[in-house]
Amino acid sequence: MIRILTLFPEFFQSPLATGLLGKALDTGIIRTGITDLRAYSEDRFGRCDDYPYGGGSGMVLKPGPLFRALNAITTEKTRVLLTSPAGRVLDQELVKELAREEDLCIICGHYEGVDQRVIDRHVHDEVSIGDYVLSGGEYAALVILDCIARYAPGFMSNSESLLEESFENGLLEYPQYTRPAEIEGLMVPDILVSGDHGKIRAWRRDQSIEKTRRVRPDLYERYISSRKEGEKP
Ligand code: 6GU
Repeated sequence: MIRILTLFPEFFQSPLATGLLGKALDTGIIRTGITDLRAYSEDRFGRCDDYPYGGGSGMVLKPGPLFRALNAITTEKTRVLLTSPAGRVLDQELVKELAREEDLCIICGHYEGVDQRVIDRHVHDEVSIGDYVLSGGEYAALVILDCIARYAPGFMSNSESLLEESFENGLLEYPQYTRPAEIEGLMVPDILVSGDHGKIRAWRRDQSIEKTRRVRPDLYERYISSRKEGEKP
């Protein structure tokens, strides 16, 4: 079960009803629980934020509502994540690790952050989705949920695509084409209609390597050095 603890439960309505994620929830391939943090606030206005001790700009998520919510919806088996631009950057390795968890709870961070005592008591991992700033943790929670859900048995009709996709072999994906064979004078590469599957595989591999070198030199370097290591006896 993947739980999301948020100030904005309505944010998740359409994403959880749409596409593969919506279907997986309908058919019970994955289970999610959206919890409204405001329901655990201590006042009748539903306030969950307060000024930071020591001063400074912005607001901080209060510990009270988060402690009560987490005590209510998690067990000792739950892995608790907090979305935070100061967290470990999500990559496919971390996605696969999280996908193996029975029970996850993602706290959507907000404002200038959350009271550190919540992190100290409850949070196993702070997770960022990249080096840029979002207006709220809901966007990140949705990204995390989506990439994890893809690993649920039966989520993808064609589970081969889990193996062929970008990152699985450390390279970006090769270009794809579909019909028609010509549009506005632009042709599909001859090799893809040649029927020579050996040549097609080699061409796709070259395209993958060249694209990775061009747009992701960091991944390319890692790919090259892991291949060199693999060549050692
Ligand atoms: Cl998890 N939260 C916010 N606010 N900004 C981010 C992020 C998270 N990950 C990248 N940028």
